[in-house]
Order: sequence, then structure tokens, then C-alpha cells
Amino acid sequence: MTKATNLVWHESEVSKQERRELKQHKSAVLWFTGLSGSGKSTLSSALEKELYINGVHTYRLDGDNIRHGLNKDLGFSPEDRTENIRRIGEVSKLMVDAGLFVLTAFISPYHNDRELVRDLVESEEFIEIYVKASLETCEKRDPKGLYKKARAGEIKGFTGIDAPYDEPFQPEVTIDTDVLNIEESVEAIVDYLKQNDYL
Ligand code: ADX
Repeated sequence: MTKATNLVWHESEVSKQERRELKQHKSAVLWFTGLSGSGKSTLSSALEKELYINGVHTYRLDGDNIRHGLNKDLGFSPEDRTENIRRIGEVSKLMVDAGLFVLTAFISPYHNDRELVRDLVESEEFIEIYVKASLETCEKRDPKGLYKKARAGEIKGFTGIDAPYDEPFQPEVTIDTDVLNIEESVEAIVDYLKQNDYL
């Protein structure tokens, strides 16, 4: 629902299609979802580098970074996580309109929230990438020491420990980081993008 009234949408003189033609590639959201420590940030960074080398214009939105700025007023309650994802969805939509490949790295634990973002953009503009790793693996990696804190009861409502994570039903791509290394994971996503005419 829109709070403000008396708003009139202003069409641009330059279309999304024209911006894409200028860049000579398509634009879409690559939506990485998975547990903390599953590899979303690492993988999206590595993919961004690979796309950049191949002349693809990208921008990456990462949970920990965005929570320092745009979403610094949000915590980890279910409502705040939903609002976090809604805003990122809207920002991603703008960036797709600008002609970019947007790589988002957020836990985005709720299926409904991810589907809302999917519905915000055109169907072929949303690519859900499930970065899959067992809780056991994520806990073993524990790059930020947060699982340890959550187990000790120092963080409440930590995803995978005492807050839920809804596994994607039918993600466009699943990357099992228990099995694949970073290069293989990047290659699998690039293959998907090529096979589906994004690149
Ligand atoms: S989301 O659930 O709203 O999508 P987001 O991806 O933005 O989460 O942020 C997750 C990051 O915040 C984690 O990688 C971790 O570093 C940190 N974090 C702090 N508290 C929590 C918590 N309670 N649950 C999950 N992640 C947390």
C-alpha cells in the first residue's frame, strides 16, 4: 500500500530496453539465499569479478553492508527481516531497470518474502540461487563467530539455530558449497546464465 496520495508516475525518455542496448547485455537479479556462512557473500563476489572481466555491468548488495546504511534501522525480528528484503527487492528492481546485473547476498529466510521480490520484476529477471550448505558445515566454518555466540545464548533468534530458514522449493540454480569449490560454483552459475541467454 502507498502512504502518500496525489502521486503521478513520470515515464522516462529512455527505456530499460535502450539502456540494455547501450550496455549490450540483459539485466536481472541474481538472488543468493542461504544460511549465514553458506558462502553467499564469497560466491557473489567471485561471480561479480568474473562478470566484470567479461564486460558485464554489475552491482552487489550484501546483507552485512546494507545493514550499515540503507537498512541500519532494521534488526532481525521477522518483521524487520521482511522489510529488509522488501527494500532490497525494490532497490534491485531499480537496478534492473538501470540495466545492471544485481547480485544480492541476504539470508532472506522466508519463502514468501523471496516470492514477493520475484513478483516485483519480470519473470525472467529473477534468478534465485540457493547457496546450500548444511547447518553443520556453516557452524564449522563460523567465519564471524556468530554460531558460537548463538549456541551460547548470546544472540537470540539466529537463523538455523532458533530462527527458521525456508529452503527454496524450485530455485533456478542450487550450489552445494559442501561439494563445489568457489571456481566450480562460479562456473556453474555462468553456465546457467549462458544456457539461458543472459550472457
Ligand atoms: S536477513 O535474514 O534479513 O536476510 P541479512 O542477510 O540481512 O539477514 O543479514 C544476515 C547477517 O547478519 C548474518 O550473516 C550475520 O552476520 C548477521 N546477523 C546478526 N544477527 C543475526 C541473526 N539473529 N540471524 C541471522 N544473522 C544475523
